[in-house]
Amino acid sequence: MKSLFFVAASIPLIAGSPHGPKESSPSASPPVAPSPQAPVSNVTTSAPRGCKALHTDREWHSADLWTKFLPSVAQRVLDPSDPNIIHPDYRVVAPDVEAVQAAVNFARDNNVRLTITNSGHDYLGRNDAPSGLALDVSGFRGVRVEHAFTPTSAGVSAPDARSEPDPDAGAHARAVHAANTTTWRAVTFGVGLTTQELNDALAPSNLFTMGAAHGSVKPAGGYGQMAGHGPFTAKYGLAADQVLEYKVVTPDGQIRVANAVSNPDLFWALRGGGGSTFGVVVQATVKAYPSPPISVLGWWANATQQDVNGTNVSPGFWDAAAYMHSALPDLNAQGVMGYYWMFRDGSMKGVFQIPDSNDDATKLKALWTPILEKMGSIPGMKAPQVKTWQYADFKAYYDARYGSAEGHMDRRLRLRGKEKEKRHGPTPDADAASMPMGILPMDSRLLAAPHLRSANLSQALRAAMPQVPMGTLLGALVSGGKAHEPADDETAVNPAWRKAYVHLICTGAGVWMCDSLRELAPDSGAYGNEASLQQPGWKEAFWGSNYERLAEIKTKYDPEMVLWASPGVGADLMEVVDGRVCRVGGTAGGKNADADADADGVAPAGDNRNLSKGDDSGDILSNFPPPDSI
Ligand SMILES: Cc1cc2nc3c(=O)[nH]c(=O)nc-3n(C[C@H](O)[C@H](O)[C@H](O)COP(=O)(O)OP(=O)(O)OC[C@H]3O[C@@H](n4cnc5c(N)ncnc54)[C@H](O)[C@@H]3O)c2cc1C
Ligand SMILES: *[C@@H]1O[C@H](CO)[C@@H](O)[C@H](O)[C@H]1NC(C)=O
Ligand SMILES: *[C@@H]1O[C@H](CO)[C@@H](O)[C@H](O)[C@H]1NC(C)=O
Ligand SMILES: *[C@@H]1O[C@H](CO)[C@@H](O)[C@H](O)[C@H]1NC(C)=O
Ligand SMILES: *[C@@H]1O[C@H](CO)[C@@H](O)[C@H](O)[C@H]1NC(C)=O
Ligand SMILES: *[C@@H]1O[C@H](CO)[C@@H](O)[C@H](O)[C@H]1NC(C)=O
Ligand SMILES: *[C@@H]1O[C@H](CO)[C@@H](O)[C@H](O)[C@H]1NC(C)=O
Repeated sequence: MKSLFFVAASIPLIAGSPHGPKESSPSASPPVAPSPQAPVSNVTTSAPRGCKALHTDREWHSADLWTKFLPSVAQRVLDPSDPNIIHPDYRVVAPDVEAVQAAVNFARDNNVRLTITNSGHDYLGRNDAPSGLALDVSGFRGVRVEHAFTPTSAGVSAPDARSEPDPDAGAHARAVHAANTTTWRAVTFGVGLTTQELNDALAPSNLFTMGAAHGSVKPAGGYGQMAGHGPFTAKYGLAADQVLEYKVVTPDGQIRVANAVSNPDLFWALRGGGGSTFGVVVQATVKAYPSPPISVLGWWANATQQDVNGTNVSPGFWDAAAYMHSALPDLNAQGVMGYYWMFRDGSMKGVFQIPDSNDDATKLKALWTPILEKMGSIPGMKAPQVKTWQYADFKAYYDARYGSAEGHMDRRLRLRGKEKEKRHGPTPDADAASMPMGILPMDSRLLAAPHLRSANLSQALRAAMPQVPMGTLLGALVSGGKAHEPADDETAVNPAWRKAYVHLICTGAGVWMCDSLRELAPDSGAYGNEASLQQPGWKEAFWGSNYERLAEIKTKYDPEMVLWASPGVGADLMEVVDGRVCRVGGTAGGKNADADADADGVAPAGDNRNLSKGDDSGDILSNFPPPDSI
C-alpha cells in the first residue's frame, strides 16, 4: 500500500485555452472567480487578509481551473490507511522551467500555500504542508561535466537530461590537478539528481563532488542550500562553498542566474540561507574534484558494563568519550575526518577516513592507536577493536559505505516497501509515488575546539544522551580544514561552521532538546537541517551574523511571502492561525504579532505538524555506515 497518492485532476483542459503557463506571468491577470464546478460547494469561509487560501474558501479554484493553469497537476487523495496525514491539496511534478514558473505564478497570484519537495529528506518537515500546492522538482535530471567555468550573466546552458558525462574529463582533470593550482573542475546538473546519481554520473570522468553521506539526499536541494556536510567536506569545503552558479525561479516567476556576476546577493543567500526561501532552484554548477584513493579505519570502544536501558553503564565510558573528542581537532589537522556514534547502552564506534591516502590505512592506524589505547586504559572500558579498509577511488568508497542508494537500503539496511519510502522521496516507480513522511525530533550543536576539550564535556555528553530505546549521539567530524577557510560572510553558511570541528546530533524517538550541548557551547550554533524545531534563538543559532542580510534579501526577492518555511529566513513574518499560514499583523488575529520581540524564542510553529511515524531512528542511522561495516 503506498503511503500517499495523487490522481491527475480529472477535468480535461479546455481545448485551445489561451492560458498557457507562459502567459501566467506576474502581470497577467489571475483567475479570480470561483468555478461553478468547484468541488467544495458548501463553503462558508474566505481567507482573511494576509492569509493563504484553503480549499474550504469561497475563492478556492475548481479542479478544472487548476488543470488549466498547471496541466500536469494531480489532486490529493487521502490514504485510507493514514487519513490523518494531510499533504497539500495538489501536487505538480515540474518537467521544465516553464512548469516551475507556472506553479510559482499560480501560487502567488491565487494566494496558495506553496511547498517545494525534492528528495523528501527534510527532518524538520519544511517540504510538506497540509494545504496548497506541492511543487516537486525531482524531474530536473541533466548532468554535464564542464571543462572550465567562467561566471556570465547568461549563465551556463541547461545540461541535456540524456547526455552522458564527458569521459575524457577525468584524465584532463588529473593533468590539471598535477600541473595547476586549480585543483577543481565543475559539473552542471539538474536539482533533481541525488548524491548517488551524481556520483555515478561523474565516476567515468574520475571526478566526485561534495554530496551527502547518504545516497538519496539531493546535493543542490535543501542540503547544499543550507550548508551540506559530507565525508570529505573537511578537506574540500562544505557543499554550499562549492557552488559556482545556481539557476533559480524567484517568487516573481522569473528565471534568474545567480553567480558571482549575476544577482550576487541571491547567489550569496542561496549558499547557506536554506531551502524554500529565496526561490525554486532548478540547476546548479558546483566544483568537482579528481577522485582520490581513500583509507578508512573503524573501531568499537565499549564499556565493561553495558546496559540496554542506559542506567548502569560504567561511568568511565563518558570519560573515554570526552577524551576521544579532545583528540579530534589535532586528528583533523592531520587530515582525518569521519563519523562516530555513542549509544545509550555504553557502546561507541567510529569510522574515520583520509582522502588522497593509499597506504592501507597505515597513517590512520598510527594516528588512532595511541588514542584508542588510552581510551581502553580508562577504568570501565574494554580494549577497543579496530578494522581498516583501503579503497581505490571515491566511487568504490562511497558504494561500499553509503550506496548505491537502492541496493544499500535493500541489502544493508533491510528496509522494505513502505518503510523504505519513508524518507526517500518519490521513487522511480511513478505508481509508488511517496512523499515526505514527517518531522523527526532531534537536537544538535556545532562544537569547536574549546568545547571538545572542555572539562565539562564528559558530563555534557552523558546528560545529552537521550534516555529512550534508540538513544544515540551521532558525531560528525566534518568541518575543520577547508571548511574553516571562508570568511564568516563569504557565503551565507552559519559562521559557527567556520570554527566547529564536530556536528553532534542527539537523537532518539521523541527527543527535542539536549540542553547540555547548548550549555557546553553557548557561543556556537547549530546546523539548520539537522536540528531541533525548538531551538531557542533560532535566527542566531542557525545563521548567526549572516541572518540580518539574509532577511533583507528574502524581502527583496519574496516581498509577498510566496515561500515560507519555518525555521527559515523570514519565518517570523508569518504565523499559523487556525490552520492557515498568515502574515503577522494581518487581520487573522494571530498571537505572534510581536514576533521581533521574540528573538530568543523558537521559530514559529509550522503548519506541518506530522511527526514521522514508527521507528525512524533506523533511517537516521542510515546517514552513516551500518553497524556491520565495523
Ligand atoms: C537519511 C538522511 C541522511 C542525511 N545525510 C546528511 C548528510 O550527510 N549531510 C547533510 O548535510 N545533511 C544530511 N541530511 C539532512 C539533509 O541536509 C536535509 O534532509 C535536506 O533538507 C535535504 O535536502 P533535499 O533537497 O534532499 O530534501 P527535501 O526534503 O526535498 O528538501 C529540503 C528542503 O529544501 C527545500 N528544497 C528542496 N529542493 C529545493 C529547490 N530546488 N529549491 C528551493 N528549495 C528546495 C524543500 O522545500 C525543503 O524545505 C540527511 C537527511 C536524511 C533524512
Ligand atoms: C453544508 O454544510 C452543512 C454543515 O456542515 C451540512 O449540514 C450540509 O449538509 C452541507 N450541505 C451540502 C450541500 O454539502
Ligand atoms: C590552469 O587551469 C586553468 C583552467 O583549466 C587554465 O586556464 C590554465 O591555463 C592552467 N594553468 C596552467 C599553468 O596550466
Ligand atoms: C529495561 O527496562 C525495561 C522497561 O523498564 C525492563 O522491562 C527491562 O527488564 C530492562 N532491561 C534490563 C536489561 O535492565
Ligand atoms: C560493542 O557493543 C555493541 C552494542 O552493544 C556490540 O554490537 C558490539 O559487538 C560490541 N563490540 C565490541 C568490540 O565489544
Ligand atoms: C563548566 O560548567 C560550569 C557550570 O555549568 C561553568 O561554570 C564553567 O564555566 C564550565 N567550564 C567550561 C570550561 O566550560
Ligand atoms: C498531520 O498534520 C496535520 C496538520 O497540522 C494535523 O491536522 C494532523 O493531525 C497531523 N497528523 C498526524 C498523524 O500527526
